Amino acid sequence: MEFVGFSLRNNLFVAPMAGVTDRPFRQLCKKMGAGLAVSEMVTSNSLLYGSAKTQRRANHDGEVAPIAVQIAGSIPAMMAEAARHNVDRGAQIIDINMGCPAKKICNVMAGSALLKDEPLVGKILEAVVKAVPETPVTLKIRTGWDKTSRNALAILKIAEQSGIQALALHGRTRACAYSGDAEYETIAAVKAEAQIPIIANGDITTPEKARLVLDTTGADALMIGRAAQGRPWLFREIEHYLKTGTHLMPPRVGEIHQILLEHLDDLYAFYGVDTGVRVARKHISWYTRGLVGSAAFRYHMNQLPDIAQQQQAINTFFLNLAEHQEHLNYIPHENNSDAEELAA
Ligand SMILES: Cc1cc2nc3c(=O)[nH]c(=O)nc-3n(C[C@H](O)[C@H](O)[C@H](O)COP(=O)(O)O)c2cc1C
Repeated sequence: MEFVGFSLRNNLFVAPMAGVTDRPFRQLCKKMGAGLAVSEMVTSNSLLYGSAKTQRRANHDGEVAPIAVQIAGSIPAMMAEAARHNVDRGAQIIDINMGCPAKKICNVMAGSALLKDEPLVGKILEAVVKAVPETPVTLKIRTGWDKTSRNALAILKIAEQSGIQALALHGRTRACAYSGDAEYETIAAVKAEAQIPIIANGDITTPEKARLVLDTTGADALMIGRAAQGRPWLFREIEHYLKTGTHLMPPRVGEIHQILLEHLDDLYAFYGVDTGVRVARKHISWYTRGLVGSAAFRYHMNQLPDIAQQQQAINTFFLNLAEHQEHLNYIPHENNSDAEELAA
């Protein structure tokens, strides 16, 4: 698809997720079929630019273009400076986060809290667009602050007037956190009024759901978050289904074993050994959840302190699995606990 001046492989985007969509994961998702991957949010507080975490988040070495960086904050001048700073370091698309419900963010009036103050939204968007005139700026929001103040349509108008080039809409209010079904009808209503591309987000977990959300919202693109954790190949599965109406076979156990090992190598190299082993545990848990024997495996794996033991445990688990099944076979009862953590 053509998107804000870039030619993308498809209209399936990886949602920005702090602590998840680091450079290794973004690269992997792009390799496995995502058309675009938005970085974890980067602070607009320039005092933190020097911190290891912020520097890592702004590292795009070797990343497949276009590089989309998300910024968050509530002070127009600081947001403008953050946009400029990231464009100077390789960002080709700046995405503004007004959709994050995390208390840490909301309490300082960034993320979805901003949606309550429409004049301030306008000031931030205008300041950022003006600061990076050569770079497309996109916006990500929820449908409103709570169920009585769904102002996505008003925000759309402000965004269009400010020069925002695309709007991603998570079909929930801030007060809904992650509960209830995403409201695709609000996304459809926004799409019906929009002059800019609309990206639908929320609870897209399967190829069928992707088709349904495209059909019911009329959105130009889909954004997928939690369902891609530990399953980056979901993008190629959805891409195939949308093109053909048929399903790909689930991936071979051996292929995912290999992909996971390569993903971990990237994490160790990107974060260094200590942090790398810790970050890897989270991803290993996601890759294996729902697979037979995975609960005992995860318990064991979480105690392992170094790279060699982590790799060894994965080899044992996947080689054993491959003896029993050629293709991955999920037992569909495990829940995703991240949403609960984030909403807490
Ligand atoms: C662990 C986690 C971290 C997130 N971090 C961000 C973030 O940094 N910026 C943002 O705009 N949204 C963030 N989100 C929200 C997602 O981008 C997305 O809107 C939400 O998860 C709904 O999509 P899904 O149902 O496909 O997961 C985060 C979500 C999760 C689960």
